[in-house]
Amino acid sequence: MTAAGRLAGKVAIVTGAGGGIGSATATRFAEEGASVVCGDIDDGAARRVAEEIQGRGGTAVAIEANVATVAGNRALVAASDKLGGLDILHANAAIQRMGLLEATGEEDWDALHAVNLRGVYLGIREALPLMREQGGGAIIITASLLGIVGDPDMPAYGAMKGGLRSMCRALATAHGPENIRCNTICPGDVETPMLADFFVHQPDPTAARSAITERYPLRRFATPADVANVALFLASDEASYLNGIDVVVDGGLLARIY
Ligand SMILES: NC(=O)c1ccc[n+]([C@@H]2O[C@H](COP(=O)([O-])OP(=O)(O)OC[C@H]3O[C@@H](n4cnc5c(N)ncnc54)[C@H](O)[C@@H]3O)[C@@H](O)[C@H]2O)c1
Repeated sequence: MTAAGRLAGKVAIVTGAGGGIGSATATRFAEEGASVVCGDIDDGAARRVAEEIQGRGGTAVAIEANVATVAGNRALVAASDKLGGLDILHANAAIQRMGLLEATGEEDWDALHAVNLRGVYLGIREALPLMREQGGGAIIITASLLGIVGDPDMPAYGAMKGGLRSMCRALATAHGPENIRCNTICPGDVETPMLADFFVHQPDPTAARSAITERYPLRRFATPADVANVALFLASDEASYLNGIDVVVDGGLLARIY
């Protein structure tokens, strides 16, 4: 960990920081000098990540926060304020539900909406005043390749991720004049607990894994670090002219037709 890195002096909130991509991002941000609020509904997981960062000489606090609630998002922003302000919000927490549209119950739809779309809206709404107060900021939303292309089994999840991409564009235009940038990351498959859960639900997980891997020009799924490095770039001043875009992190999958 270094206090003189690419995010030196900055304060960041990462939601879903106990999970695969969130823990990699929180750690990467801290390695580059940011003070990090590690937010997760799973307090133990967030604490483990914060303690790991602290153990390596970085600055981090763990906050048990459900992004689906106003109170959870307020707690994250308050913790950030205590660390010195708010420069970066990585709105990353999400859940996954699978099933064709007709097999998707209202409860599943509402649960996905509450966390994956409404939760991001609430988080950004709470973050904006503090970012504005200090003259700018960077918002990074973890959307998905499934917000661009379709998976037959994930219409509801895809709807939320597509919604995030549209919201990002509106935010980029509304808050660019305040020096607040908003961009999304759209990963393909990433080796995280969420992906493991996807394969568990396939009739033949091993066959599904190798068939999907084979579709990737790079013949592998992304690592959480592959995504965290993009988040770091978008959060840093190196990306100071990037606003309202989707960064696709998919090893070339979208480039492929046959
Ligand atoms: N893994 C993939 O293949 C993949 C692909 C594309 C996009 N994504 C997106 O990346 C992001 C991170 O996913 P991941 O793969 O690291 O998943 P993960 O399951 O490893 O981590 C998600 C984290 O979010 C937390 N969380 C869930 N609900 C929450 C809530 N209401 N409030 C606060 N925290 C909550 C979980 O406790 C978990 O720690 C998600 O937005 C996901 O949709 C993942």
